Amino acid sequence: MDLGRVEVPVAPPYPVVAGAGLDLAEILSEELESGVAAILTDSNVGPLHAPTVERALENAGWRVADVVEVPAGEPSKDLAAYAGVAGRLARAGVTRDGTLFALGGGVVGDLGGFVAATFMRGIGFVALPTSLLAMVDSSVGGKVGIDIPEGKNLVGSFLRPRLVAADLDWLQTLPRRELSGGLAEVIKMGLLSGGEYFDDLSRLGAALARDSDALRALILASIRFKARVVAEDELEAGRRAILNYGHTIGHGLETATGYALPHGEAVSAGMLAAAHLARERLGTDLVALHEGLLSSADLPLQAPAVEIEKVLAAMDRDKKRRTGDARHRFVLLEDVGRPVWGVPVDEGEARRAIGAVVA
Ligand SMILES: NC(=O)c1ccc[n+]([C@@H]2O[C@H](COP(=O)([O-])OP(=O)(O)OC[C@H]3O[C@@H](n4cnc5c(N)ncnc54)[C@H](O)[C@@H]3O)[C@@H](O)[C@H]2O)c1
Ligand SMILES: [Zn+2]
Repeated sequence: MDLGRVEVPVAPPYPVVAGAGLDLAEILSEELESGVAAILTDSNVGPLHAPTVERALENAGWRVADVVEVPAGEPSKDLAAYAGVAGRLARAGVTRDGTLFALGGGVVGDLGGFVAATFMRGIGFVALPTSLLAMVDSSVGGKVGIDIPEGKNLVGSFLRPRLVAADLDWLQTLPRRELSGGLAEVIKMGLLSGGEYFDDLSRLGAALARDSDALRALILASIRFKARVVAEDELEAGRRAILNYGHTIGHGLETATGYALPHGEAVSAGMLAAAHLARERLGTDLVALHEGLLSSADLPLQAPAVEIEKVLAAMDRDKKRRTGDARHRFVLLEDVGRPVWGVPVDEGEARRAIGAVVA
């Protein structure tokens, strides 16, 4: 087992371990005291991977009180699912010293984390991310939460997991479009980081072909980068905002298309739009570089035809929630590895940038 281990240096710190053919029982025994566990998963991941995880927990001395499965997909990040999961834990007799294991993508991680943060005012939480997006992004950093009809991620909390463990073999069953979507976040962090991590983006094509060395290198680089950014600014008072690169217009596109456009594809278009904006505002031309990277991960260079005014309206609502300020605030790249954040952008500039990436 070729294992990578990264410690997220917050207080208390927590380990993120990732590798192909992960011996989960051994890792659990090394990292945690055993106790009562519940597993939360979804209807795609559960049938594929929950039985092995349950066995690993038992082999490591845990008692698995329940395995709870929610329907796969974003709609499960809602109040009804939250109530359903909390109810199952209560009925299974999970107590204050229990631990919830979230086995799945970002949906299961965010929902499970929010249940763990609040059930009995907080139980233990372990993230077992199975999607690329969850491995490189959502499982590190402690943001957990659910959606309400008024907006995505509007109810949530910060919660430090006790452990994050990812078996890269889980990615073998991940649909290709989801793999591409996860690579969008990898590209984002490689561009923000620069250096060796950026050089490793030459392996995107191999990662998309599920080459395990390429996946491992990119996943570990992403986890290290995100861990460092999070440790500097856990509650997002400042620099953590750079992780929103491509997400200002990206979220606008997601909302304007009624979430028909997958997150990774929306972020791709958002990054490309930000590159156009940077060319106009900062005189740095990284547009072709962005196009090359996105293409090698099989990500689209254009968002589907959507009314620009709708995207702007969604961005306005998003912005009011975030800042209450009149202008949009963007993360832009002065160069690879040199992000600037909080860059004020007026309506006309934003409109042109969106126009550059909408079909
Ligand atoms: N907390 C954070 O910091 C943070 C950061 C980014 C995104 N998010 C959240 O993450 C969510 C998106 O995460 P996601 O893209 O993982 O979505 P997801 O959890 O819906 O997973 C995507 C799809 O892949 C399937 N899947 C996952 N792993 C699989 C596997 N190994 N084999 C087969 N199928 C598998 C899922 O069942 C689902 O259908 C959003 O709700 C977003 O808000 C949170
Ligand atoms: Zn994202």
